[in-house]
Amino acid sequence: MTDTANIAKGLEGVLFTETKLTFINGSEGILTHLGIPIQEWAEKSSFEELSLALLDGELPTAEELAKFDADLKANRAVPQALLDVIAAMPRGIHPMQALRTAVSYLGLLDAQAEDTSEEGRRAISIRLIAQFATIIAAINRAQEGQEIIAPRMDLTHAGNFLYMLTGKEPTGEQARLFDIALVLHADHGMNASTFTAIATASTLSDMYSCMTSAIGALKGPLHGGANEAVMDMLDEVGTPDQAGAYITRKLDNKEKIMGVGHRVYKYFDPRSRVLRDYAEHVANKEGKSNYYQILETIEKIVVDRMGAKGIYPNVDFYSGTVYSDLGIKKAYFTPIFALARISGWCASVIEYTRDNRLLRPDAVYTGKVDQQYVPLKDRA
Ligand code: ACO
Repeated sequence: MTDTANIAKGLEGVLFTETKLTFINGSEGILTHLGIPIQEWAEKSSFEELSLALLDGELPTAEELAKFDADLKANRAVPQALLDVIAAMPRGIHPMQALRTAVSYLGLLDAQAEDTSEEGRRAISIRLIAQFATIIAAINRAQEGQEIIAPRMDLTHAGNFLYMLTGKEPTGEQARLFDIALVLHADHGMNASTFTAIATASTLSDMYSCMTSAIGALKGPLHGGANEAVMDMLDEVGTPDQAGAYITRKLDNKEKIMGVGHRVYKYFDPRSRVLRDYAEHVANKEGKSNYYQILETIEKIVVDRMGAKGIYPNVDFYSGTVYSDLGIKKAYFTPIFALARISGWCASVIEYTRDNRLLRPDAVYTGKVDQQYVPLKDRA
C-alpha cells in the first residue's frame, strides 16, 4: 500500500520548474547567472547590475542600469512609521526576527502591496531591494541604542549600507569588497528560502508575504544561519594552534562542522573560493588574523578527511571573516545574506508566477488505518 521508496526526502533531485536565471553544477563547482560565471560577476559587475539582470533575465544596457540605480536610490528611505516600529522592538532579539517583522509591517504601509501583476511585483521588488538595506541598518542601530542613520544618495548600494550601519563612510575598497559579497549571495537556484518564496507566490500571495516567508526559511542554521555558526565555531576554537585538535575531535565524533558541506556542491563552492581570495588578501595586508589562520587549518583537514564524501567549504565558510573585517557584528551576517538574496527571491518569484502553478506536493501516508474514534472518557 505504501510507496516510501519513491519519497524524495528533502526534495533532492526533484525538478519542479524551469529557470533561466541560475545554473549550478555541483560536482564541478560551477555557478552561473544568465550563463555568466559567478567569478565574472564578482570581478566585473555590481550588486545593482546583477539584481537588474536577474529581475529582467538579461544584461541591462547602460541606460537601463542607470535608471534602475536611480530607482533604487529614490526608494532607499523607508516610512517613519516603520522606523518607529523598529525603534520600539524589544532589545536583544535576533535581527532576523526583527527583519521578518519589519518586512511584514512594511507591507502594511504599501498601498500597492496586493498588486500581484508582473509589473506590480517588479515595482515592489525594486522597493524591497532598496529598503532591505535601510531596514537592516536601522535594526542594527536601534538594537545598539544608536540613532538611526538616513540613507545617502551619493553612495553605491553596498557603500550606503555600510555607511548607514556604522555611521562612517566606508573606503572605496571596503565598499567594493562588500559589493562583491552581495553579488556572491544574490541568487543560488532553488535553495530553501527561494523555494519558500516561490511556494508562497504560487498561491498568488503578495510580494511582502513571499519575502517574509523567505526570511523565515533563511533564518535557520542549516541555511543562512550557518555563517554566524561558523564564527561561533571560530570563537570556540580560540587560537590557531587549537584548530587541528578541535576539528579532528568533531569529525571523530561525527559532529557537523559549520560552513562545510552543501546539498548541491560536492566540490568547492565557487563562491567560497572568491571569498577565500579576498579574506586572504585582507589577511595578508593587515597581518593574518586568528580567524583566517583557523579557517585555513580547518579547510585543509576537512578536505583531506571529507573531500571523498563531497564535503568541501561552502559560501559561509569565509564570508563571516570578511564581514568581521568590515566591522559587521556576527548577528548581522544572516540579515546581510537576506540583503543580497532579496534580488534572487524577487526575480525567482517573478519568473515562476509568469507561468504559475500552485505548489502542492504529496506525502506517503504511513499512519494507522481503520481506526475508530474513542470518546475521551474511555481512553486509557
Ligand atoms: N560536517 C561534517 N560532516 C558533514 C557535514 C558537515 N558540515 N555535512 C555533511 N556531512 C556528512 C554527513 O554527516 C554525512 O555523513 P554519513 O554519510 O557518514 O552519514 C555525509 O556528510 C552526507 O551528508 P548529508 O547530511 O546527507 O548532506 P546534506 O546534503 O543533507 O547536507 C548540509 C547539506 C545540510 C548543508 C550539511 O552539509 C550541513 O549541515 N552543513 C553545515 C551547515 C552549513 O554550512 N550550511 C550552509 C549551507 S550553504 C547555504 O545555505 C548558503
